Amino acid sequence: VRIGILFGGPSAEHEVSCASALGVARALAGSGYRTVAIGVTRSGGFRLMPDSVLAELRDRPAGERAIDDHLVVTGPAVELRSGPCPGIVQVAAGNAPGAVHAELDVVFPVLHGPFGEDGVVQGLLESLNVPYVGCGILASAVGMNKVAMKRALRAEGIPVTPYVAFDSHTYRAAEDPEDLVVGLRRPLFVKPASMGSSIGITRVDDGDDLAAAVEEALRHDQLVIVEQGVTGRELECAVLGGSRPEASAVGEVRVAGGWFDYRQKYFGDTDPMIVPAVLPDEVTELIRDLSLRAFAAIGGWGLARVDFFYDETTGSVYVNELNTMPGFTAHSMYPKVWAAVGVGYREVVDRLVELARV
Ligand code: DAL
Ligand code: MG
Repeated sequence: VRIGILFGGPSAEHEVSCASALGVARALAGSGYRTVAIGVTRSGGFRLMPDSVLAELRDRPAGERAIDDHLVVTGPAVELRSGPCPGIVQVAAGNAPGAVHAELDVVFPVLHGPFGEDGVVQGLLESLNVPYVGCGILASAVGMNKVAMKRALRAEGIPVTPYVAFDSHTYRAAEDPEDLVVGLRRPLFVKPASMGSSIGITRVDDGDDLAAAVEEALRHDQLVIVEQGVTGRELECAVLGGSRPEASAVGEVRVAGGWFDYRQKYFGDTDPMIVPAVLPDEVTELIRDLSLRAFAAIGGWGLARVDFFYDETTGSVYVNELNTMPGFTAHSMYPKVWAAVGVGYREVVDRLVELARV
């Protein structure tokens, strides 16, 4: 079986994707799969990469771990096109008959954020009729959009934090941005509806500039969500499987000041993860159950990491978000919470490949 690994991509999570892909590529190689590394540039072009590129990227300073035509690392341009029979996709350079570099049986889109995790790449792979790892178009799209996701979860009775959503047009038409957030208590978290890794998010306390926070979110998306902050512990749980998915151990993320931002998440010095989280048994079971229900609510397949807030003073648990291609480095939460229940990194990757479907 030959597996194409897509990584990089146009989203703000390009560098995280490169790090995740290194772990996945190593695990696949260790299981005897043949892999083809396909870097996706920030402008969305596909480039054939030598296998060594992932390790090379890791050794570069943060800010330079990129597949890019002009900046850092590049390779020959390729396209994915339908193969000689269904279920196979060709990695082709140009149109010349001899230009096919490889035929792939499965594609693993190790891409985070818009383009790679929101259904766009999934749609491309569907149209090529090739099996791919992870959620399909709908679950990817719903998972990436915080508004669609909350609506889907609410419809299934899954608790989410209080929020309002509005688009740029509604925002510009409002006399006072405060009119749009009536009923929500501060602190507020103002976010672009579709993003990942905490990008474009601003915390708004009393006296802070709500308008500036909304403008910042609007730089990333036309749709903005404002969530009421929940004081509580941040818990995360992984889901793995197809029609009968399973939930992992529960992990906790602890950050000293504020929330778990992009820099701390991927480039911090200290490990902020506690696995398994120290919790009453019934809370652990509730989190695991809600994770499976949330996965089902978006129509998930393959994998997702479900992130929660747990308010100890009230005992309330809320789903904060679903990540359909969670960070996948050796130090990421997704593999850690599986390792805690005896499922190692390589086994996780093997199971994901087996679950890949057209
Ligand atoms: N969006 C990043 C990769 C995560 O949730 O892990
Ligand atoms: Mg995310």
